[in-house]
Amino acid sequence: MFNREKVSNIYSKFVQSFENALNTVVYGEKPSTLSKLSELSLKGVANYIKECKPKNVIVMTGAGTSTSAGIPDFRSSTGVYSCLQEYNLPHPQAIFDISYFESHPEPFFRFAKTLFPKNVKPTPAHYFVKLLEKKGILKRWYTQNIDALEFLAGMPEEKVVTAHGSHLTSTCRSCGKKYDRKWMTEKIFDPNTLVPHCDTESCRGVVKPDIIFFGEALPRRFMTCSFEDFPKCDLLIIMGTSLVVQPFAALVHEVADDVPRLLINLEDVGGDSPAGASSTGLCYARKDNMRDVFWKGTCDEGVKALAELLDWELELQEMIAEGEVKFTTAPPNV
Ligand code: APR
Repeated sequence: MFNREKVSNIYSKFVQSFENALNTVVYGEKPSTLSKLSELSLKGVANYIKECKPKNVIVMTGAGTSTSAGIPDFRSSTGVYSCLQEYNLPHPQAIFDISYFESHPEPFFRFAKTLFPKNVKPTPAHYFVKLLEKKGILKRWYTQNIDALEFLAGMPEEKVVTAHGSHLTSTCRSCGKKYDRKWMTEKIFDPNTLVPHCDTESCRGVVKPDIIFFGEALPRRFMTCSFEDFPKCDLLIIMGTSLVVQPFAALVHEVADDVPRLLINLEDVGGDSPAGASSTGLCYARKDNMRDVFWKGTCDEGVKALAELLDWELELQEMIAEGEVKFTTAPPNV
């Protein structure tokens, strides 16, 4: 999935950050005046939004934005990968591995009831990103989630990149026939269906939701949009992800070196800090940090705290309340 240009781009950034680190060791701290943030905190990010008025904000999200909607994440202690013992998989991620699926589709479809619960609703974190779009400052929302809650929160399709696909549609593995979410949901919750098959008599192939399995290429739109968007990004907000899956996690590198990056997460990830599961280069724990902020907590609490600092809390509360009414009266038909 890496192309030569992208790899050399990441390598040159690595050399750059290594030289910066070396300079810091030899010549001392980088002057903090280079920072665009008045302070390396949520308040500093709020001040930046109010005073510098970024208009190409990019948001990157993972499963942590949907846990409060009742959808488990993957790698925390109660996540998907901790509760798959009954499926006798060679390893937990096999349930999303395309080569394993080809020969053993049953475990995925048995588990799909948990992965695709009915009547889920967007969370405050989803509505906060919708608020950014409503204010005309969201460039794009890159999500790893397949639950389509971004669209239930009212996001226009062109503003969202579903990097790992979504279960809005499904495709027959043999003839390519497309099926909608309603069809697949009925199959998944039908006690008499173990594996959904194509309803074309002459085909009867296995129908798989259009989510990206390990071993499958990411949607072309992921590449085309990220190449266009990230060089223009003037604020990166990362929420609810362990930043361990590539190439999504590497997007963190793709913004310019002085662009502020805010991580809202229950645990510190993606940084050079010892706890960081992988070093995607977030510098919030480094002495020479001048642009990264890590806000430790839930996505919902983090966006509410940021909305308060921006004087947006009433607007956010109204959107959440409207969503509550909308989805309590009529279940989502996405
Ligand atoms: N608020 C903030 N952070 C949270 C919350 C929450 N309510 N709930 C969980 N988290 C954090 C966890 O601590 C963890 O760091 O969100 C992160 C979720 O990480 P993962 O479970 O690894 O999920 P994600 O990063 O989305 O996984 C990426 O891996 O299995 C593949 O394709 C799958 O898209 C998925 C990809």
